[in-house]
Amino acid sequence: MDLGIGVIGAGVMGAEHARILRRAVSGAHLAGVCDRDPARAAAAAGDAPVFSDPLALIAAPEVAAVVIASPDETHAEYALACLAAGKPALLEKPMAHRAAEALRIVEAEAAGGRRLVQLGFMRRYDAAYGELKAVLGSGRIGRATVLHNVHRNVSVPDWFSGPMAITNSFSHEIDISRWLLGAEITSAQVFPAGDRGLLMVTMRTDGGQVVSTEVNINAGYGYHVHAQIVGEQGTVEMAPPGLALTNAAGAHGFDFPADWIPRFAQAYRDQMQGWVDGMAAGRLGGATAWDGYVTVAVAEQIAASLRDCQPVEIALPPRPEFYR
Ligand SMILES: NC(=O)c1ccc[n+]([C@@H]2O[C@H](COP(=O)([O-])OP(=O)(O)OC[C@H]3O[C@@H](n4cnc5c(N)ncnc54)[C@H](O)[C@@H]3O)[C@@H](O)[C@H]2O)c1
Repeated sequence: MDLGIGVIGAGVMGAEHARILRRAVSGAHLAGVCDRDPARAAAAAGDAPVFSDPLALIAAPEVAAVVIASPDETHAEYALACLAAGKPALLEKPMAHRAAEALRIVEAEAAGGRRLVQLGFMRRYDAAYGELKAVLGSGRIGRATVLHNVHRNVSVPDWFSGPMAITNSFSHEIDISRWLLGAEITSAQVFPAGDRGLLMVTMRTDGGQVVSTEVNINAGYGYHVHAQIVGEQGTVEMAPPGLALTNAAGAHGFDFPADWIPRFAQAYRDQMQGWVDGMAAGRLGGATAWDGYVTVAVAEQIAASLRDCQPVEIALPPRPEFYR
């Protein structure tokens, strides 16, 4: 089994997926790359063919499955084209630009009766998050009551606006909080803090838990993702983000990664291998199209509340039978 996989979008994330497919995955190979910028596509493709049209890449017979890593607003069109072609897609987060588009993907997949979409929520493959979930599942800290998340980026470009902090960055916390707690989000409120785009978001779940998240897109010092679960009999949290301690310049400590690629390098590899293995076994893992839809819908409703920062009750349709 050696699946040919095509990659659409060869920017920061797509180039990393293409690199993993060329070097770090068994049972699959890079079968083509498409980017609006042909030079980027060629740089990411190595010896694989370059496509100028994403729909031609999806239709190509040598492409058995597709990684969609183009900008958010293009995801739905390419995901729907993959579903129409009966080809599995690893779809970067967020699943779509709007919840209505994400719901169309869910409906198309359910109508086909076969799971073809996996969302690129790679934190589900991260060892640290995996340990938090395992400790919670073991019962050692009792029932979870609070989840504290921290999501800090060094900085973002000017076009990365306030709502994108919710619809793009914070979509990771929506998904990982649902996954860690095994609960659904029922309400939320945003509290802007300072004048550098920092948002504090609180959410309640149908399990009665409170989730707090600092979404800090201009933290300055490094890329820092942290989570702590408070249980009724203890807490569990991520250890510092490195394996080596440095003594230098009068300080002792860990270095922070510059961005998400080094921090989640192993998770991106494990996600790709898991997806390839899942396709080979006919049983996809990871986040489903329904998880992707819920994340977009929750993010959209929270982002809309940025206008007045009042509490929002989250409205979701019933989970379709196909995803139960
Ligand atoms: N899972 C994660 O941790 C993670 C991290 C970063 C980004 N992402 C997601 O990956 C996607 C890409 O983000 P990025 O940071 O790589 O952005 P990027 O701007 O670095 O790359 C996007 C690429 O897509 C190309 N492109 C634009 N329109 C296209 C089209 N219609 N068809 C084909 N290619 C097109 C651009 O030329 C560019 O090379 C986004 O949806 C983002 O949310 C996920």
